[in-house]
Amino acid sequence: MKTLGYYNGKIAELEEMTVPMLDRAAYFGDGVYDVAISRNKRIFALEEHLDRFMNSCKLLRITPSHTKEELASLFSSLLGKMDSGDQMIYFQYSRGSALRSHTFDPDMKPNLWVMIKPMTLKKNPKPLFCMTMEDTRFFHCNIKTINLIPNVLAAQEAEERGLDECIFHRGEEVTECAHSNVSILKDGVLVTHPTDNLILPGIARAHLIRACKALGIGVEERPFTLDELMDADEILVTSTTKLICPVVEIDKKPVAGKDQTRLSALCTYLWDEFERETN
Ligand code: PDD
Repeated sequence: MKTLGYYNGKIAELEEMTVPMLDRAAYFGDGVYDVAISRNKRIFALEEHLDRFMNSCKLLRITPSHTKEELASLFSSLLGKMDSGDQMIYFQYSRGSALRSHTFDPDMKPNLWVMIKPMTLKKNPKPLFCMTMEDTRFFHCNIKTINLIPNVLAAQEAEERGLDECIFHRGEEVTECAHSNVSILKDGVLVTHPTDNLILPGIARAHLIRACKALGIGVEERPFTLDELMDADEILVTSTTKLICPVVEIDKKPVAGKDQTRLSALCTYLWDEFERETN
C-alpha cells in the first residue's frame, strides 16, 4: 500500500478512510497520539514512543485497550503491507465514541487510529530559518494530546513567511518549537529546557542528551532565555521526523555557527545510532 489508515481494525488507503462522527476526537480533541519513523520496516525507538504514549494515556485518564506488545505487533504487521520500508507511523487513541457531553465514562473503550505515510529521514538536513513567538499554549504540553491549535497556527505562520520552524517563549523563557524541541550549545555545554509541563519530552531530545553524555559534552536541563538563544554557539532543533537540525537564522538575524565541531559530532552520533538501529 502507498499509505495506510487503520481505525479499530478497519484498514484502507488513508484517502478512503472515514471515522464515526461520535468519536470524541472530532468535537473535543479528546485524545493522545505519538509519531515514530521507520527505515527498512524497522521502527526507530519504538519502545520509547510506546512508553510516552502510555504515559499520555495515563495523564488524560484514557484506559488503553492494547498492551505495548500488542501495539508493536500491530504496527509491524501494518508496516508489512507498505510498498516501502521508510514510513512515518502516527498512532492515536481518542477517548472513545459517545453523544457529546463534557464528562466521560471512565471505562470508555478508546478508538485506535493509525496513519502510515512514506517519509525518509534526511542524513544532512538543511539548516533551519526560524521565527519566535509567545507561547500561548496551555500548561499540559508534556501530554502529547491532539489539541494542537497554537502549534498549527505557529507552524502555518512560519511557513507563510518562508521559514522552517517557530520557537516558542513564555516571556523571556524559551520553551520548545511548534513541532520540535530546541536546545543550545554554549561554552561546550548543552542547555535544554527541563521536562516539566511546558514542553513535550521529545524522544529525539532524550537521544541528544544521551549523545552528549557519550561524547563527554556537559548537559544542563534548565530553562534558558531568548538572549541566551540568540547568543548561543549552536542551536539544535530535534524531533522524530527531523532527528537533529542546526538553526542559522532567527527573526531575520544570523545566529549560532560557532561550535561546528560539537555540532557535527552530535549530528554524526545521532545519525549513526539511527542507521544502526534500523538496519
Ligand atoms: N512532533 N515538541 C512538540 C510540540 C512536538 O510536536 C514534537 C514532535 C516534539 C519532538 O518530539 P519527538 O522528538 O519525540 O518527536 C517536541 C511530532 C513529530 C509531530 O507532532 O508530528
